[in-house]
Amino acid sequence: MKNILVTGGAGFIGANFIHFELQKYPELHIVNLDALTYAGSLRNLDALPNSNNYQFVHGDIRNTALVRQLLINHQIDTIVHFAAETHVDRSINNAQPFIDTNIQGTFSLLEAAREHFTGSESGTDFRFHHISTDEVFGSLKPDEPPFSEFSPYAPNSPYAASKAASDHLVRAFHHTYALPVTISNCSNNYGPFQFPEKLIPLVISNALAGNELPVYGDGKQVRDWLYVEDHCQAIDLILRKGHPGETYNIGGHNQPANIEIVVMICQLLDELIPVQGGYERLIKYVNDRPGHDRRYAMNIDKIRGELGWTPRESLASGLKKTVGWYLHNQDWMKSIQNRSDYQNWMENNYSSRKGKQ
Ligand code: NAD
Ligand code: DAU
Repeated sequence: MKNILVTGGAGFIGANFIHFELQKYPELHIVNLDALTYAGSLRNLDALPNSNNYQFVHGDIRNTALVRQLLINHQIDTIVHFAAETHVDRSINNAQPFIDTNIQGTFSLLEAAREHFTGSESGTDFRFHHISTDEVFGSLKPDEPPFSEFSPYAPNSPYAASKAASDHLVRAFHHTYALPVTISNCSNNYGPFQFPEKLIPLVISNALAGNELPVYGDGKQVRDWLYVEDHCQAIDLILRKGHPGETYNIGGHNQPANIEIVVMICQLLDELIPVQGGYERLIKYVNDRPGHDRRYAMNIDKIRGELGWTPRESLASGLKKTVGWYLHNQDWMKSIQNRSDYQNWMENNYSSRKGKQ
């Protein structure tokens, strides 16, 4: 692995991955292709350890001619595909961009990769790694075992359905054209640079602004939380040791209810910057997300057994780091909070949920 094309590297996990790789392997060359949608920001890539080995390209993964050029010009041997529309609530509001980027975009990228792989001498050293989600498996009942690599696909939201479609395309390109692919399905990430429309950064940012902390439904939905650096470590291992055609589940072994997460953040903030009455008084139960998946949990035996990966951060240590990062990077947060598109989204998503006591 010498020359990597990262798609969506200006977003949350992609940016963390670029930092992680360039810190660990200073000799790597990374090209970051990102359309800079509302969720992407070049600020996430300030202060890279070795900016000589890094190049940003502003463009869309659906621009096949551009992708072809990048693959040839930079002699790309590895594609790590993060670029996607990622917020479930936005997919419920308007699914079209999810179909365009997650399905059509992944297809375009696969076509360019196939052409490049077939025409190049890199042979099986070439790798297309597709980043996917646990949401493709649907929702677990309280007593059901965690999702494994053999769990059937049962996506419930337009976002999850678009990711499921992209997984199927990636798998088919391996089966039909022998493209050397790997897929990882990961649970909920949290950590630095996460856009504050997602639960954890939203709660931190609202709490600091003295705004309500919206908890959907009864707040007892369960997610499997993973600190983002642990995810980056898992991807790195899959790229280096994973087998083409294989899928790996990744999760954090941390499965609290949403309300517990919100309370933990409030308690951390109470310690770090106390306010009168504490932060928990800001918690507000609001109308639920339509079709809200009740529970996710990941069985990580395969990646642990085959590649030796295991998450390093506990929820307590990861949340402490995350709250600390947002407190030290309030400029980053405020630059998003001040944007009119962000304010419009907050108004659009939360005004219709009010009313529940
Ligand atoms: P994000 O929303 O923070 O960032 C997405 C990035 O993709 C942005 O920089 C955006 O500009 C870029 N992008 C969007 N459409 C594009 C297009 N057409 N062409 C080029 N770039 C485009 O996303 P994230 O949370 O970092 O998620 C990254 C990947 O990981 C996604 O594929 C997501 O499905 C997957 N995933 C996320 C989580 C999570 O908890 N965040 C968990 C499991 C899997
Ligand atoms: O499971 C992996 C997925 O995790 C990724 O594939 C997605 O890209 C990522 O966005 C995330 O999806 P979720 O829907 O689980 O994340 P979100 O942060 O939006 O919500 C987490 C939980 O918190 C979920 O049960 C909904 C709830 N929630 C969310 C928001 C934004 C609230 O209770 N209140 C809120 O305001």
